[in-house]
Amino acid sequence: MAQRLNPALKAVSDAVLAVAANLSVDEVLQKLVDAARELAGARYAALGIPDGTGGFRRFLVAGMSDQLVASMGPLPRTHGMLAAMLHQADAYRTDDIHDDPRFRGWWPRQHPDMRSFLGVPITGPDGTIIGAFYLTEKDGADGFDAEDQELIELLAAHAAIAITNARLYEQSRELSILSERNRLALELHDVVSQKLFSVTLTAEAAASQIDTDPETARVQLHRLRGLAGEALEELRALILGLRPPDLERDGLEHTLRKEVEMVARTHGADIRLEVEPGFQPGGAGGERELALLRIAHEALHNAVRHAHADHVIVRLAGSDRARMVEVTDDGIGFDPDAAELRSRHLGLTSMEERARELQGRLKIRSSPGHGTTVRIELANHD
Ligand SMILES: Nc1ncnc2c1ncn2[C@@H]1O[C@H](COP(=O)(O)OP(=O)(O)O)[C@@H](O)[C@H]1O
Ligand SMILES: [Mg+2]
Repeated sequence: MAQRLNPALKAVSDAVLAVAANLSVDEVLQKLVDAARELAGARYAALGIPDGTGGFRRFLVAGMSDQLVASMGPLPRTHGMLAAMLHQADAYRTDDIHDDPRFRGWWPRQHPDMRSFLGVPITGPDGTIIGAFYLTEKDGADGFDAEDQELIELLAAHAAIAITNARLYEQSRELSILSERNRLALELHDVVSQKLFSVTLTAEAAASQIDTDPETARVQLHRLRGLAGEALEELRALILGLRPPDLERDGLEHTLRKEVEMVARTHGADIRLEVEPGFQPGGAGGERELALLRIAHEALHNAVRHAHADHVIVRLAGSDRARMVEVTDDGIGFDPDAAELRSRHLGLTSMEERARELQGRLKIRSSPGHGTTVRIELANHD
């Protein structure tokens, strides 16, 4: 026993650490079932978590190839021996499962035949059975012995904690889906509402010129179609969780340049893009590139929508370590610390959240009458 306590402790601590490492429930369960198989010296091991309605919510196996698992068809229902372990608090051992009346004498197609069997229920903190270990085909012996059982019972006690915690963790992940919704709201605000704003402006311009200057109106309408198409493309990318197609294809500098040109045209503003010599375009993950683009985009749109500026300058600088985007306007300015700006307007909040998520530095300098500078600095790596 003493020599085997070591691997047992290791298996148990691996499983507990897996939970601490915030692995997914499935990863934790897989570690547990692998550990059980090794500890008991079994050819096959399984770990089942019931769904409470007569089936298994999860059923993980060890010792079988993926191919074999796939060939056996759908997850087992909780019947026969599998069910028994979920209804009795004690472990069960037999050298030949075929002799037990609860074994109904059949396997699904492709299921390897199994004789020796050790089943150990996993009891949760409140005394209910939350799962079971199933071990079959003891290596090098006719059956499992009392020592095997003791080891698996020890593992089961820890598995109970691991499973309960992993479940709690999964629930907390569900909460973070809420923040994912939040992120979507920001993206929608940043991308779609700005684009649609430009669509509206262009449509207005076309409408006002259609009688007096149909040729110009035609050009506006053409532009309108382009803008609507871009909005559609961006929306699609957003829904699919992809990077905006332009950014993927053209990189940050080129995408910003196109954006600047588009905004200048639709808003009739003087906007310049200045790229610092030696600016290094690459080196960053898509997520960072996207954050830089979105923040620049929001700052640029704010400058043309709110600032009444004569000039707007977008600056791009950076080395292989960090990059910086700065948007400066000479407009009316505002008080960036005013609390009411955060409650109803998503733009400033969005910039701040994106910067914070990536440990970037966002600085908004503005005061009424003195224009505005928004500056974001982001390391290229963590
Ligand atoms: N560059 C700017 N110049 C002047 N005012 C600005 C500028 N940027 C933002 N603001 C002010 O801050 C407010 C909040 O901006 P934002 O959060 O982006 O929301 P939104 O653009 O949807 O109004 C704006 O409504 C505007 O009053
Ligand atoms: Mg805004």
